[in-house]
Amino acid sequence: SIASAITQVVTADHLIDVRSGKVLNNHYIVIDGDRIKAITADKSELPSDVDVIDLGDSYLMPGLMDMHTHLVRQLAKNYYAGLFQSPHRAVIGGVVNAEKTLMAGFTVVRDVGASDFQDVALRNAINEGEVPGPRMAVSGPALGITGGHCDDNALNHSFKQKSDGVADGPWGVRQMVRRNVKYGVDLIKFCATGGVFSKGTVVGQRQYTLEEMEAIVDEAHTHGRTVAAHAHGNEGIRFAIKAGVDSIEHSSYLDKETINLAKKHGTVLSMDIYNTEYTLSQGEANGVPEENLNKERQVGTIQRQSFTHAVNSGAKVVLGTDAGIYPHGDNAKQLSRMVKFGMSPLQALQAATIEPAALLKWQQDVGELKPGLYADIIAVKQNPLADISTLEQVHFVMKGGTIYKQ
Ligand code: ARG
Repeated sequence: SIASAITQVVTADHLIDVRSGKVLNNHYIVIDGDRIKAITADKSELPSDVDVIDLGDSYLMPGLMDMHTHLVRQLAKNYYAGLFQSPHRAVIGGVVNAEKTLMAGFTVVRDVGASDFQDVALRNAINEGEVPGPRMAVSGPALGITGGHCDDNALNHSFKQKSDGVADGPWGVRQMVRRNVKYGVDLIKFCATGGVFSKGTVVGQRQYTLEEMEAIVDEAHTHGRTVAAHAHGNEGIRFAIKAGVDSIEHSSYLDKETINLAKKHGTVLSMDIYNTEYTLSQGEANGVPEENLNKERQVGTIQRQSFTHAVNSGAKVVLGTDAGIYPHGDNAKQLSRMVKFGMSPLQALQAATIEPAALLKWQQDVGELKPGLYADIIAVKQNPLADISTLEQVHFVMKGGTIYKQ
């Protein structure tokens, strides 16, 4: 095609190889259409007449990846706010959030739970080039038990309100997975325990039986979809790992045995450790009910201890922020907390690039600056290996060879 004939070159004084942690100086990234064709330090290898984008003393690296977002969700205030906003209006907010996220340097997100397949619509509009946003892997409505964290429990029974991913029993959940697949999801999300921001659920308590979790995973994997399980409590985490999920979301109550189980099964832990700070400082002003603030107080400290323990034990941990709980576009704020609570800066970079790419099984497309992969490139002014918080100030964003921010 004509697009693939377009060649451009991006260069800067420094380029970070996120796999080795090496900083390469004065390298040129040659881009053919939407993919990287070559990376070279030899100027004579560059095609003649090429457009060179020189970012001077910047540090180039692959676009960031967040494995837990809700783009079609405004700030978590209270569970009644959603009653006054139509699903259509919410998607328009999602379009704005998608752009903010991309401009913050996130070229890939995994969006885990949206009603009405709003996330599928947003993903498709982005992929069709109609609106700017990150590449999205989407789950559609999250599966959950009746009355659980992924149900809508605010109204009394006469309203007959329930979330559109509610399913019970092994065959009920299989049917729900099939329905989500039918309408275009990339992965399956389910709620294995109670949660912080739902009404009437106990944060550490298991939801779904092992049999139901196994049915979800079997059905999803049969259809080539990975599975993400929301799980704070230890039993729910263990059941989900045993059932074969690909990632545990939140992962708050971990012990040694559970961490070892995750390592044995290769289960990835996605831990949103920045949220506590945000919710405990801003939640009350935002109108978060006392019930939910209380649950946040229960899990916050223990989750950060679990994070340290998991990192020190060599478990796989990825960046998963739950953006939407705090403002979209602030995703990178979690990286400095990941370093504060035990990761090296390189581990944090990998948790936001190559590890998510492996979780999504998208290694052939994203996660590194490497020939053959998409030209998803960001630039920052400082070396993130020396100061990880520089990733909160991304000043150049390219996705698939198109510049969105410069
Ligand atoms: N969506 C999650 C829940 O409602 C957010 C948890 C946020 N808190 C935390 N400490 N990670 O359960």
